[in-house]
Amino acid sequence: MSGTRELLIVDDDEVLRRMLCDLFEEAGYGVRDAPSAEAALAQAREHEIDAVLSDVNMDGKSGIELVGELRRLRPETPVVLMTAFASVRSAVEAMRAGAHDYITKPFENEVALLAIERAMEHRALEEENRRLRLAVDRTRAMGDLIGESAAMREIFALVRKISHSRASVLITGESGTGKDVVARTIHFHGARAAKPFLPINCTALPEGLLESELFGHVRGAFTGAHAAKRGLFEKATGGTLFLDEIGDMGLPLQGKLLRVLQDGEVRPVGGTHTTKVDVRIIAATNRDLAEAIDEGRFREDLFYRLNVIPVSIPPLRERPEDIPPLVEAFLSKHAADRVKPVSEDAMAWLTAQTWRGNARELENAIERALVLSEGDEIGIEDLRARDARGTPEVDPAERLLASAADSSLSLAQLEDRYIDEVMRRTGGNKVQAAAVLGIDRKTLYRRAERRAREQES
Ligand SMILES: Nc1ncnc2c1ncn2[C@@H]1O[C@H](COP(=O)(O)OP(=O)(O)O)[C@@H](O)[C@H]1O
Ligand SMILES: [Mg+2]
Repeated sequence: MSGTRELLIVDDDEVLRRMLCDLFEEAGYGVRDAPSAEAALAQAREHEIDAVLSDVNMDGKSGIELVGELRRLRPETPVVLMTAFASVRSAVEAMRAGAHDYITKPFENEVALLAIERAMEHRALEEENRRLRLAVDRTRAMGDLIGESAAMREIFALVRKISHSRASVLITGESGTGKDVVARTIHFHGARAAKPFLPINCTALPEGLLESELFGHVRGAFTGAHAAKRGLFEKATGGTLFLDEIGDMGLPLQGKLLRVLQDGEVRPVGGTHTTKVDVRIIAATNRDLAEAIDEGRFREDLFYRLNVIPVSIPPLRERPEDIPPLVEAFLSKHAADRVKPVSEDAMAWLTAQTWRGNARELENAIERALVLSEGDEIGIEDLRARDARGTPEVDPAERLLASAADSSLSLAQLEDRYIDEVMRRTGGNKVQAAAVLGIDRKTLYRRAERRAREQES
C-alpha cells in the first residue's frame, strides 16, 4: 500500500455519514462515501479501496450482502460493519458473511478509528504476505522445499493446492528424493500447520509395537503395558500423521489401518472404546506399490484410500536444474560460519553426476566437501574425495551390514551386538527391547543368561 489509505464509508443516514467522513479525513485517510450498498459496489469497482466501513441496515441491499459481494469483487478488502442495535444475531451473521470486524452503534469516535486502523493493518499484512509469497516463487522455493525444474514447480503448485484439504496424500519417489520435505511442506502450508505433524517410520518398528504406537493401548493390553498410552492417531488430532515407508507395513496392520481410515475412528489395542479420528494422512514410499499389490504384499483397497492425491517426485538425475539451487541450500545449511562457494567447474561436475541416492547423497557430498576443502571455494577435488573414500551413499542399514561383513562377524556376534545396542537405546528396558527386536522377553532373558555363562567360561 502506498500513499494515503483509502476508506469507503457506507451509510444511508446522511448526517452520520458526513460526520464519519470528517472524522476519518481528519485522521488522515482518503475517504469516499456511498449512501447505499449498490453505490458502494459501484465505487469499489472504480477505485482501489483499502477498507470499508458500512452500516448493516440500509434500504436495498444490506451491509451483510455488501460483504458477500465485496468478497467476490475485492476479496482483499476488509469490511467493518456498524450494527444499529446490540444484536448478537446480526454480529454473528456479519462475521460469518466474512466481515473483518463490527462495531455497535452508537459508538465513540475512538472505537471507530481503532477498528478501521486494525482493518488497515490487517490489509497491509495480507499484502505483505502476498508479496513474500510472490518473492518466494521467484527464488524457486516453498518453505524448505527447493527446486527450479518444471517437475518441482508442478509439485509446488500441487502442494499449494492440496495443503488446505484433508484428503489423503501418497508421496512416491526413490530414497532421498525429498519425500519427507514434501510431506512437511504440505502440512506447514495448510490449515493444520498449528497442529502436530507426527511422522512414524513403518520400517523401524516391529508390527506389534507399530500397532500400539499408531492406535495406542489400554493398560494391561499386553505384557509390559503397565499404563495406557495414547496412539499417534489421537496425538495428531487436528494435524497430520506421516506414515513413512508405508510399503513396508505388514498385511495384518494394513487391514487395521484400512479399517481406521474407513470408519474414521480408532480403538486402542486391548480397548473397547473407540475415538473419532481427525487426522490427515500423508503416506510415503520408495517402493513400487503396484508391484507390491500384484505380489499380494500390499492391499489394493488401502492403496486407494491412501492414494487420493498422488505426489510423485522424480529422481534427481531427471531434474538436473534442481542441483544448483540444492547445492546452494546445502552449502548454507552446513557451512559452519562463513558460506563457502562452489567453483564453477565443481558446480558443472555436480550437475552432471547421477546421484543414485538423490538429494540426500548430494547433501552428504556437500557436507563432506565443506569439511575437506581448504581453499576459499569448493573444487572438484574436494567433491571427488567421496569416491576415493569409497563411500557412495547407501542405505545406512546396508552400510552397517557391509561393515559387519568386512570385520567377518559371525551371525551370533552380530546378533549379540545388535541386542546390546537395542538394550542401550531402550535404557535397559527389556520389555521395550524385546518388542523392538521382535522376540519375546523370555528369549531375551535366556540369551542374557547364556552370554553371562559364556563370559564366565
Ligand atoms: N527439494 C528439496 N529441497 C530441499 N531439501 C531437499 C529436497 N529434497 C531433498 N532434500 C534434502 O535431502 C535430504 C533427504 O530428503 P528426504 O525428504 O529425507 O528424502 P526421502 O524422504 O525421500 O528419503 C534431506 O536432508 C532433505 O532436507
Ligand atoms: Mg524419508
